[in-house]
Amino acid sequence: MNDTLRLTTEEQAMLAGKAGPGVQKAIEIVVALGRIYGARDLVPVASVQVSGVSYKNLGDAGLEFLEEWAAQGARARVPTTLNPAGMDLQAWPELGFSPAFARQQEAVVAAYASLGASPTCTCTPYLVGHAPEFGQHLAWAESSAVSYANSVLGARTNREGGPSALAAAITGRTARYGLHLAENRLATTIVEVRCPIGSEADLGALGYLVGRQVSSGVPYFRFQDLGPGHRHLKTLGAAMAASGAVALYHIEGLTAEAKAGNMLGRSTPSLVVDDLAPGYAALNGPAREVDLVSLGCPHASLAELEAVAGFLAGRRVRSTLWITTARATRQAAEGAGLVAQIEAAGGRVVADTCMVVAPVAGLGFRAMATNSAKMAFYAPAHSGLAVRFGPMEQCLEAALTGRWPGTDGT
Ligand code: F3S
Repeated sequence: MNDTLRLTTEEQAMLAGKAGPGVQKAIEIVVALGRIYGARDLVPVASVQVSGVSYKNLGDAGLEFLEEWAAQGARARVPTTLNPAGMDLQAWPELGFSPAFARQQEAVVAAYASLGASPTCTCTPYLVGHAPEFGQHLAWAESSAVSYANSVLGARTNREGGPSALAAAITGRTARYGLHLAENRLATTIVEVRCPIGSEADLGALGYLVGRQVSSGVPYFRFQDLGPGHRHLKTLGAAMAASGAVALYHIEGLTAEAKAGNMLGRSTPSLVVDDLAPGYAALNGPAREVDLVSLGCPHASLAELEAVAGFLAGRRVRSTLWITTARATRQAAEGAGLVAQIEAAGGRVVADTCMVVAPVAGLGFRAMATNSAKMAFYAPAHSGLAVRFGPMEQCLEAALTGRWPGTDGT
């Protein structure tokens, strides 16, 4: 515990309860974290992103905690968005979610709304009007969004837990430690990638391998051939945050801070990746029949929905095909005619949720195909599903036939 934490007059007043019990509880959390991590002061945050939104994970105790905090007068004082919920908040009946689950999930979202959070329900707030600016301090919670904000955009956030993110929203502050400090943002490991990157799944397999090696370090990538990979960086960060605890990475000549200055640091041992096969092997189970194909982890962009619609034109899927995305992205896709095209092929564009936080185990699926290394990593434990992992085109082929295409399966 350190005593060097200095609070402003306003922060001291919050701590003394002068802004009400809800704010007092929030600043107690922020201050406790500051003391644990040796922070010298608190820093104002430009925005907050809160995780712990699915009723599947939160349960009744979590819901009561939120309702009680709101009843104590707590309100977000900075723009605050929500991570995916446990279901599509509009289409849940036709997707097979139970009314009992839906009632509780709606209550969770309502409790967050009464705390002043926007019900965006997405892990890609940066794609739907909530992209932070370079150098801004944030308190974001979803690991893939944290990685994207830190790495691609050059904002500064630790990976917050659900309550600490909400406490930052209610106080407008977070403790200045970890990735809020410039010295902790320097690379710890240079990663030389000597094999070509041909797809979003290649980036996911790479992220899986690197995350396992560097754990909570800061990798600095040098790619020999990134190919179209620069369009899929959200999958790289998501995978490293799943197999490891990477919250920040740099790519030479590409990501925000690597372009702005020297992020190499002093001690940077090299890791060479010249083969992605071990990543694919680790993320693929033996399932041949596939009854669910899940794309959109992290939540799909408009460009990804366009690619899916283009692939499916004039064809019809046999398996259930769900592409998860933000509600705002779905609306844009609807306007562009993409949702109608995907639905004409038998697929669904599902908003507000994802296959890890939704209670899909109760929906009768057994084997899932996905192009997301993060999803492939979590789905067996979180959703009880067998998993096949590969690029979008391979997953969509599986959706058309109900079988995983490839030399081992057909
Ligand atoms: Fe987002 Fe769910 Fe994947 S929260 S990153 S779609 S596991």
